[in-house]
Amino acid sequence: MFGPKSHLTTRNNHLFMEDVDCFALAQHEGTPLYVTSEKRIRENIRAYQRAFPDADKYFAVKANGNLSILRILAQEGMGADIFSAGELSVVRMAGIPKDKILYNGNSKSERDHEMAIMAGVRMSVDSKEELEHLAQTAQSLGREAEILFRVNPDVSAKTHPKIATGLRSSKFGIPSEQVAETYMRAANLDGVRPVGLHCHIGSQILDTAPFAEAMGKMMDIAAAVVAAGGKIERIDIGGGLGIQYQPDSPAPTPEDLAKAVLPIFMSRCRSLRIAPKLILEPGRSIVADTTVMLTSVNVVKRAHVNFVAVDAGFNVLARPMLYDSYHHVLAANHSDEAAAETCTVVGPICETGDILARDRKLPALARGDVLAFLDAGAYGFSMASQYNGQPRPAEILVSGNKADVTRRSEDASSLLAGQRILPRLMW
Ligand code: LLP
Repeated sequence: MFGPKSHLTTRNNHLFMEDVDCFALAQHEGTPLYVTSEKRIRENIRAYQRAFPDADKYFAVKANGNLSILRILAQEGMGADIFSAGELSVVRMAGIPKDKILYNGNSKSERDHEMAIMAGVRMSVDSKEELEHLAQTAQSLGREAEILFRVNPDVSAKTHPKIATGLRSSKFGIPSEQVAETYMRAANLDGVRPVGLHCHIGSQILDTAPFAEAMGKMMDIAAAVVAAGGKIERIDIGGGLGIQYQPDSPAPTPEDLAKAVLPIFMSRCRSLRIAPKLILEPGRSIVADTTVMLTSVNVVKRAHVNFVAVDAGFNVLARPMLYDSYHHVLAANHSDEAAAETCTVVGPICETGDILARDRKLPALARGDVLAFLDAGAYGFSMASQYNGQPRPAEILVSGNKADVTRRSEDASSLLAGQRILPRLMW
């Protein structure tokens, strides 16, 4: 174990989350299994509250859409960054107030616009073209939608190319130099009311400098809008703060982020004589380290490589396959034992690329042992699929010595859900 993880300990050779024995839990509930610490979620949120007491924090729901987890975030006063009408329903059900919801997205349909307008949530408008579509829909509904503009700040976030979103070439946002003009167009259009600016430069960012750069560029654009006569009530700088997945790559804290961006925000607001609400959209840094993914060993195969084949593959945890991501692995029922050999942990999916962890030093393992993949709470379950006829796993919330199912595992009937055999194919 590395880094300060108050919710994960090892006792008598077993991994514990709070006061729950992960191996015993896996035996009881079956694997694969996502297990989350309630205490750690609250700690992570409070770190953001302390660092940014005056900002609104909107959780990026795509990172984790578990209803009980969203309910905890609502209890702690967080809002939500949503990307679909489906996420809108889920966060409303979790009790997140509509005033703290921002509906983002670069490709919204007329139906999406209608849903957001009727629900009364703000939207982030991604293009000049979207602005015209949205205004028309709002006019036809006789409503006015509050909007922010998604800015493409042209900032390099030094992260995996698939999760860098602030580059000029990225599909997201309006080029910086077109924002003020688009903002003023919106100010003169019926059906919309421009209230602010939004950006998001990427994810798993381990250096605060790109955030400071983005904040400076956002304030330059705010200055251009103010000079053109526009009013800026909200500045949303997105999410993206990385976490420590690997023992040797520490991550900045919310406090480090605050030190990098708040002085720029405050001094530029003062000189522009504006007092907008600052908004952040953290996803990963709120939930990633709260959760482990437990998976059982089916086979230990000694071939050219020592393969440990487990019951979770990229259907359960897609990140290693998609982004070559590192998730630290522990043996949940050998957690105090020294590493015995170098293994590659593979899943049950019929693809060579179904590798969850490559060349890891692990204790001697056998069929029935349970591995814990750490830091699986962000983009873990939310990106799981049913590929290869694999039902999605259950999710558990741990609090003290309690472990409750918050989402039951799927079964074969889930694979058939919504399907039918056409009558004409019956004979
Ligand atoms: N705001 C917006 C507009 C976003 O697009 C995202 C993430 C966030 C906030 C939250 O970013 P975070 O704080 O979690 O870095 N599946 C990838 C990550 C995709 C991120 C998509 N957008 C992964 O597993 O690494």
